[in-house]
Amino acid sequence: KLPQPFTAPLAIPPVLKPVRSDADADYYEITQKSAKAQILPGYTTEVWGYEGRFPGPTIESRSGRKTVVRHTNQLSLPTVTHLHGGVTPTQYDGYPTDFLLPGNGGRVRVDKSIAQGSYDYVYPLAQPAATLWYHDHRMDFTGPQVYRGLAGFHLIRDDAEQALPLPRGDRDIPLMICDRSFAADGSFHYPSIDPSLTGKPGVTHDYMKGLLGDVILVNGTPWPVLEVDAAKYRFRILNASNARRYQLALDPPPPKGAAFTQIGSDVGLLERPVNHDSFAIASAERFEVVVDFSAYPVGTQVTLVNRFGSGTTGHVMRFHVARKASDDSSVPSTLVKRDPLAAPSSVTRSVKFSRSGSGYETWTINGNAFDPNRVDARVTLGSTERWLIKSNAHHPVHIHMGHFQVLARNGKDPRPSDAGWKDTVDVLPEEEVEIGIRFAGYRGRYVFHCHNLEHEDMAMMANLEVT
Ligand code: C2O
Ligand code: CU
Repeated sequence: KLPQPFTAPLAIPPVLKPVRSDADADYYEITQKSAKAQILPGYTTEVWGYEGRFPGPTIESRSGRKTVVRHTNQLSLPTVTHLHGGVTPTQYDGYPTDFLLPGNGGRVRVDKSIAQGSYDYVYPLAQPAATLWYHDHRMDFTGPQVYRGLAGFHLIRDDAEQALPLPRGDRDIPLMICDRSFAADGSFHYPSIDPSLTGKPGVTHDYMKGLLGDVILVNGTPWPVLEVDAAKYRFRILNASNARRYQLALDPPPPKGAAFTQIGSDVGLLERPVNHDSFAIASAERFEVVVDFSAYPVGTQVTLVNRFGSGTTGHVMRFHVARKASDDSSVPSTLVKRDPLAAPSSVTRSVKFSRSGSGYETWTINGNAFDPNRVDARVTLGSTERWLIKSNAHHPVHIHMGHFQVLARNGKDPRPSDAGWKDTVDVLPEEEVEIGIRFAGYRGRYVFHCHNLEHEDMAMMANLEVT
């Protein structure tokens, strides 16, 4: 029995406090463990959470200030932690086989691991203010491990952002949207081929395209409600779903003006805001938007709806415009100055995402299933390349370390919601998406992959070697 929507209040994940700070870094500690959560009223659900929470606690960092996160694995299986959108040296990036084994070694033997028990992930964060997120990235088992709850926000702030008159404090709210399905006993229902997550990876045949749940959670609560002032709010919207895409809109739409003023994309603020009445958001993408609830009469119930969904998946959460309030925030017509995309070098790389194998039981990039021992793309540190991403199905394509801009879709202008610097692009069926990607960061081995986590686990991933 599903809960009544719009009754439970929106929860905001707590901000994690550093255990210590010194001249050049802040140090955090996170224990990955299983815990009992109340997600559906009257049921307990076992989650795997950072600090036992789903979503995990939010980390807030200053741009350019080193953040060190000591992760301790108290689960029974290996984990890998990736800071999605971070420009991170390879040994801290969460390469899918850089396993952090549980303190007791766990139930799975692996050839090699990066550590047992605890590992310090060191993030330089030499990058602008942005809404990043961290999540599990264990090779072949990312889907079920994120599904159990291993995901959280990591925000970067900087001076340029702070100087803007945007909504802040209680009116700057991260929203992690994801879908789940539940078994009759309240546990998460994930159709793994091997539910012990120790043997054959992937999901049973019917879920090849990706797992869709019938319950929409925001910050871990089904269809929550948030009481808001009649004022502007900044929402950092993350689609943390394994596979579901959303087309977000407000119902009713504001009597005047656009529903959403987008101020940020995956990896930071836009130079200029972009207005949307609705926008599509694929797995792993982030949209930072400002919504002005003063456009509505006090007392209005405003529902965040999903036009790609129907029935229980057609709505996401509700805002109750509770009271008049003062608001000195605004969205300036120019936000921040971002580095321009350099002219791409002569290298044009073609990457094709498709389903293959006998019986189509695997997902491939350029015909290959993921192999940690093969280099699929060798790129030069500091260079900018043009990539042509082709697909015959929906694939949210994510590239580690390199940030990019969408230049064209099928040879035509990108969508308004493609604006800004990104790390994930929603590639539609029969589309060819052209991006300009900059490899400014570190040398070493990284991955790019489909962020539909079922596709990723079924081998739709490739190696990127930055030299
Ligand atoms: Cu959000 Cu390689 O992942
Ligand atoms: Cu895919």
